Amino acid sequence: EEAAQIKLVEDPSKPAAKKAKLYQLPELIGDRVRLQGWVHRLRTQKTNYFIILRDGSGPLAQLVLSGDAIKTLDALDLTVESTIEATGTIQKVKEGQSAPQGVEIVVDWWKIVGRAPSGDDAFEGRLSADTDASIRADLRHLELRGETATAVMRFRALLLRYFREYFNTKRITEVTPPCMVQTSVEGGSTLFSFDYYGAPAYLTQSSQLYLETVLPSLGDVYCIQESFRAEKSLTRRHLSEYTHLEAELVFIKFNDLLDHLEDIICTVVDNLLADPVASEIIKTLHPEFVPPSRPFLRLDYKDAIKYLNEHGIKKEDGSDHVVGDDIAEAAERKMTDQINRPILLINFPKILKSFYMKAIEGDEDFTESVDVLVPGVGEVVGGSMRISDFDELMAGYKREGIPHEPYYWFTDQRKYGTTEHGGYGLGVERFIAWFLKRWTVREASLYPRYMGRATP
Ligand code: 4AD
Repeated sequence: EEAAQIKLVEDPSKPAAKKAKLYQLPELIGDRVRLQGWVHRLRTQKTNYFIILRDGSGPLAQLVLSGDAIKTLDALDLTVESTIEATGTIQKVKEGQSAPQGVEIVVDWWKIVGRAPSGDDAFEGRLSADTDASIRADLRHLELRGETATAVMRFRALLLRYFREYFNTKRITEVTPPCMVQTSVEGGSTLFSFDYYGAPAYLTQSSQLYLETVLPSLGDVYCIQESFRAEKSLTRRHLSEYTHLEAELVFIKFNDLLDHLEDIICTVVDNLLADPVASEIIKTLHPEFVPPSRPFLRLDYKDAIKYLNEHGIKKEDGSDHVVGDDIAEAAERKMTDQINRPILLINFPKILKSFYMKAIEGDEDFTESVDVLVPGVGEVVGGSMRISDFDELMAGYKREGIPHEPYYWFTDQRKYGTTEHGGYGLGVERFIAWFLKRWTVREASLYPRYMGRATP
């Protein structure tokens, strides 16, 4: 206690410390730097403190404190998740020792900036491997500091970047459609509605219809926008709010759409595997990941029904599947896991699909539609060719019992220079759950929303 009276002062005779982020340290060996960050881990010995510091810039780094530096009040007080500031000299770790990035910082001055609690309220006590799921969810803001959640979020950022890069190289333009809308896209049962200055309005289920309206001005377009679904059940792949990556491509045929899907998925996967940060994360979280090979299996809906029956995959009520059935989540996943590679499931019956889907010429009860299915998750993409003919679209509204008036702006596309076009929506959290082998899409969302949860 007596020794703990030492007050550290920065030594003015030392070379000025350069402010640095942890990721820069391997480039700065021999330099004196100033660092700020959180105490990720702490190991105290009689003569040394070892702090693993985290500053959000990516890699961690080890600080070594000794001598006067561990005889201060702050040294007595230090806790995990406290913020600190420190100056020190970077050196390579000694032969036979290891530390993040192969370096350590020999600290000559440091202080606590914000002390995290000890005792009952200590960070380490709040979340552990056996913390109850609902408490975990309440503490998502703290869980996000953990290594797994941090890795998933960093991966997510890179994934979005590589999708954007792909679109950019293909001259597909990004737009930002509205989230507050007055029409549905995927049927009324999953709409969140709210009062909009006295009129009914909804949170968007899909930006597809808006993307279609700008094909005549911007050509091929995409958006990465939140979509909302009032899902009335808790599953491991459904969120109430999810990030929806949607694209709409003009002057294409159905085969072009399928080729595009294969290409964008494989290119983004390849780029992530080639990215040094992303590939480390894949190696840690999903070391057995095998990139999908082209071409993907193209499976006709009718053949999928046959597959299910031949492999004894039954409906929920125990009966065989028949053409016209909506393949349930469990059956779809069983089939996909058995086939164990991405599948383009195509040509769904019209009765199962939305009003806007184009029918197959000569097989009018079926549509030019596609779901991309991946092992472990099931459907990650839904897409189709769109009805381009005015009368056919009007019949589509009628079949689905949707009043056409609120859709006048969408219908106008068929009036003023209509054209063949198609597009798709990809669930970003599902794609990540597949790639990083997460049990649930909730892990791929910063603050997941699902039935009963909108906090924090
Ligand atoms: O199949 P969906 O409903 O298709 C559409 O919304 C089309 N309008 C998209 C388009 O063509 N532009 O949804 C597309 C994808 C699904 O394949 C799934 O990956 C994801 O969105 N998705 C969800 N992800 C998480 N939670 C939910 N509740 C989801 N609902 C759909």
